[in-house]
Amino acid sequence: MKLIDLLKVLKTRFILNSPYQLLHLITSKCNCKCDICNLWKRSSEYKNDLTTKEIIEMLNDAKKAGIVFYSVLGGEPLLRDDLKVILKYAKEIGMTTAVVTNGYNLKEKCREIYPFIDLLVVSIDSNDDLHDEMRRCKGLREKAIEGIKECKKSKMKITINSIINNRNLSKIDGLVNLARELKVNISFQPMDNIRGYNEHLQPSYGELQAAFKKIIEYKKKDFPVINSFEYLKIFSERKKYTCYAPRCFINVEANGDISSCLHVYNKKWGNTRSSSMKDIFQSKEYRIYCKNVKNCNECNVACVIESSLLYVLNPKILIEKAFSYRSTI
Ligand SMILES: C[S@@+](CC[C@H](N)C(=O)[O-])C[C@H]1O[C@@H](n2cnc3c(N)ncnc32)[C@H](O)[C@@H]1O
Ligand code: SF4
Ligand code: SF4
Repeated sequence: MKLIDLLKVLKTRFILNSPYQLLHLITSKCNCKCDICNLWKRSSEYKNDLTTKEIIEMLNDAKKAGIVFYSVLGGEPLLRDDLKVILKYAKEIGMTTAVVTNGYNLKEKCREIYPFIDLLVVSIDSNDDLHDEMRRCKGLREKAIEGIKECKKSKMKITINSIINNRNLSKIDGLVNLARELKVNISFQPMDNIRGYNEHLQPSYGELQAAFKKIIEYKKKDFPVINSFEYLKIFSERKKYTCYAPRCFINVEANGDISSCLHVYNKKWGNTRSSSMKDIFQSKEYRIYCKNVKNCNECNVACVIESSLLYVLNPKILIEKAFSYRSTI
């Protein structure tokens, strides 16, 4: 993290006491039908996606509320024709940007967007045909890898993101080797449960524990795993964490709904078309919510847990981040 960003985060954290990261589900459109994620089912709602103008206004509002990091996901963000304009604007107003993509259109799209991206995250869950099978999208893995190779020509930081479920437990070796071969980072996260959709893909505790022990061993051997040891140990040692996620980030859904805890409670706070983020973050209701969910451990994803560990300035994770040459942003 650049020093200037760190200072901005500290200002938002200690002076405004507000979230510093915006996760924007920039479109409902998706070109896959993943077994682990049901967001593709909302593809037809894309007509209600925020327009370019509405997103620019939302970014201005987010900046006023103290947001420092703008992370774009979806649906599939590369399906938005105005992505370049939006990312360029976010950079112009001083935000650090990240894009999370399934990589299907990456090779064709990357040249126009890469000057405006600080971190690119490409989802690959298995370095063989299982990836295309579980995302129900033929040729996806090859296209994602081709896209990464093209993006390597730029200065962006690139990370492969792999979601561990009960079908790719034996694919970890292939994934770490792929990351090493491509000279990019890799992060692993257990799949989050989506009720009524993906529970049958949840590994047992024992399986998850073994998988994360293996990932730790690869990290110790200097494979480019960017998760912190503290994060990985939550699963290899079955530790609890205190959740500070709603104090660190906020979600804006494709239609502008402002929400916390997307997969689990999907608590709505308003809509960017009519609400101000600053007012939401300063409200008593928001502060009470943040306090009340501290003991919730429903999420496995790194953005929730790593940001929670950083929020309380966990010394182990601070030391690890300070001395790691594999920083994310
Ligand atoms: C929702 S996707 C949106 C961006 C893009 N469509 C993609 O697949 O990368 C954002 C990230 O969430 C991951 N993801 C999907 N379903 C998940 C789940 N059930 N638990 C944890 N992460 C999940 C994806 O693999 C991806 O890395
Ligand atoms: S993980 Fe990404 S590609 Fe897959 S359904 Fe969800 S949004 Fe679409
Ligand atoms: S762990 Fe619970 S409180 Fe924290 S983000 Fe997930 S659902 Fe929300």
